[in-house]
Amino acid sequence: MTLGFYGDSRSDQIDGKVYNYKCLVLYTESVMSESGLGTNVAPWRSPLARALDGNHSQSDSRYFQLATVQADGRPANRTVVFRGFLDETNQLKITIDTRSDKFEQIQYQPWGEVCWYFTTTREQFRLAGKLDAINADCPDSEFQNARQSTWKDISDNARLQFAWPHPGETRANSEGFSPSPPDPATPLLNFSLLLLDPIKVDHLELRGDPQNRCLYLYESEAWSTLAINP
Ligand SMILES: Cc1cc2nc3c(=O)[nH]c(=O)nc-3n(C[C@H](O)[C@H](O)[C@H](O)COP(=O)(O)O)c2cc1C
Repeated sequence: MTLGFYGDSRSDQIDGKVYNYKCLVLYTESVMSESGLGTNVAPWRSPLARALDGNHSQSDSRYFQLATVQADGRPANRTVVFRGFLDETNQLKITIDTRSDKFEQIQYQPWGEVCWYFTTTREQFRLAGKLDAINADCPDSEFQNARQSTWKDISDNARLQFAWPHPGETRANSEGFSPSPPDPATPLLNFSLLLLDPIKVDHLELRGDPQNRCLYLYESEAWSTLAINP
């Protein structure tokens, strides 16, 4: 079994008293594979893996808000489910319907930003980057395999929603919401695997006095890490 350790200096304020301590986090194999640690990972992946681990008892810790830009330049924002990382990359996986507004927005403007707040550890990650929707007509076989395996991995209930009537249109008859269950081996044509490839990650930890904030930037094919004022 593979295990990993990460040392981390922390400062917490509890009942008005400040506690400074060195924290040693033990990562189990599941966290290592969750984060893809051991591969070519970005430096923000270990604090994010730690946050996922520290908040796993909260079922909503795998939801985040994804912001996109509408054709008229106005923002659009919605909650989506984190579906893990694409293989050996730092790209976040999200599942979306090609009939949804967000899909159209990404065609006009591929930049997006995720805002992810972890309630137990009281920290926020904002991840900004380009969005790439992998659809049924994507010619790349590796991306197509990823789309297919993600379709297989999501729950029956999540798959069923892709067979529901067109999202955002006038409410359809109830029969439309009782489709026959789609085949787990073959994604429906409107199923899209959306990838967010972050180039800027802003991590804010509310715990600590003062709070800690760290900026990770991907420039000239390398990540930089900078502690900044909260
Ligand atoms: C907890 C929660 C999780 C959601 N997960 C997803 C998701 O993974 N993918 C998705 O397309 N919509 C998801 N939705 C629905 C979206 O928030 C949104 O209502 C829908 O996708 C339409 O968005 P759009 O009109 O901006 O395209 C989720 C909603 C909630 C409340």
